[in-house]
Amino acid sequence: MTKKGKVVLAYSGGLDTSVAAMWLTEQGYEVITMTADVGQQAVDLEAARSKALRSGAIKAYVLDLKKPFVDQFVWPALKANGMYQGTYPLNSALSRPLIAEVMAEIAEREGAVAVAHGCTGKGQDQVRIEVCTNALNPDLQVLAPVRDWHFTREAEMEYAEAHGIPVLATSSSPYSIDDNIWGRSIECGILEDPWNEPPSDAYTLTCDPWDAPDEPEFIEITFEKGIPVALDGAKMDGPDLIAALNERAGKHGVGRIDMLEDRLVGFKSREVYECPGAITLLTAHRALETISLDKRVLAAKKELEVKFGELAYEGYWFSPLREAINAFIDTTQEYVSGVAKVRLYKGQAVVRGLRSPNSIYSHGLATYSEGDAFDHEAAVGFIKIWGLPIKTWRQVHESKEAIEIPAQ
Ligand code: ARG
Repeated sequence: MTKKGKVVLAYSGGLDTSVAAMWLTEQGYEVITMTADVGQQAVDLEAARSKALRSGAIKAYVLDLKKPFVDQFVWPALKANGMYQGTYPLNSALSRPLIAEVMAEIAEREGAVAVAHGCTGKGQDQVRIEVCTNALNPDLQVLAPVRDWHFTREAEMEYAEAHGIPVLATSSSPYSIDDNIWGRSIECGILEDPWNEPPSDAYTLTCDPWDAPDEPEFIEITFEKGIPVALDGAKMDGPDLIAALNERAGKHGVGRIDMLEDRLVGFKSREVYECPGAITLLTAHRALETISLDKRVLAAKKELEVKFGELAYEGYWFSPLREAINAFIDTTQEYVSGVAKVRLYKGQAVVRGLRSPNSIYSHGLATYSEGDAFDHEAAVGFIKIWGLPIKTWRQVHESKEAIEIPAQ
């Protein structure tokens, strides 16, 4: 067998990537695995390490990446109110450039010739990881054994058994799951028929809204320059704050999403998500912007947010446009500080109060009561000028069909 050099494999500890580790070893590669803790549920990192080594790896990296994930990917997305198609908070999409970046760095350190991932040929995670890797280090080959080998599930199990890889065939999920601190993506199985309501076993972070507590819960989220820094007045670092919100909002059934998504790879897909912390923070952040940002900045930002969502979704994280958009957004976020009071109740996170040291809401201008500071006389001239173009037009062009008013 010819030696092919070292390869860094993104390793979850599941069947696909374990078989991939062994298979790459048999192809003549020296496999180094990289398991990332991005805040996914129920991940046994030490078990992943020993399983990697039993699956042929010569070395296993197990890394806590929650902090860089939140600081460098989640917060820029939150500041951009990042949602794909206005609905999906990009939880899976945001983790891929991080994984690509870390793998490229390890590859450099270890002198590897390639990186590898366990994505199939139908998803967009393969696109994101490969586009990001090529952008960061074009000399690295990218291998996708699961996409290329055409193993069936049964063949994978047989292969694993024959090579002494422990297989947990018992409670394999009927869904394809991807999971991190920003949310959980649920696909496949019964969900592929858009008429089917997602069964309750699809969810693990949120309860059904009608099983949620009958009492609402109020929380206060403090932001500094667009980033949440405290919950109910208690300072928290990013990953802890999101984890706490996942718990509290999840208990109220907040953050369930069910959509038909337009995939980058050309077809529509039924996608279910549960993102209790993300939805709560996005709701609070968007509201805080309304009290602290100028109307035209808000409008221009909204257009760029759509673009941001597409770029993050489509694997263009390291593109100059994504970076330029975030640079613009960062200048707007200078002013997005303050507190949003959010009510969690029966599947909804609703903002019930706002306070900001940079508030440009003026009570004097807005009030209809005592203390009114608005210049009422100025309205007369304003209306004259504001209406002038339409008045001029109507003097030249015929009026639209009249509304018929019956005689009285
Ligand atoms: N549709 C989402 C996306 O492309 C979710 C991907 C989830 N990945 C998975 N392997 N189940 O961003």
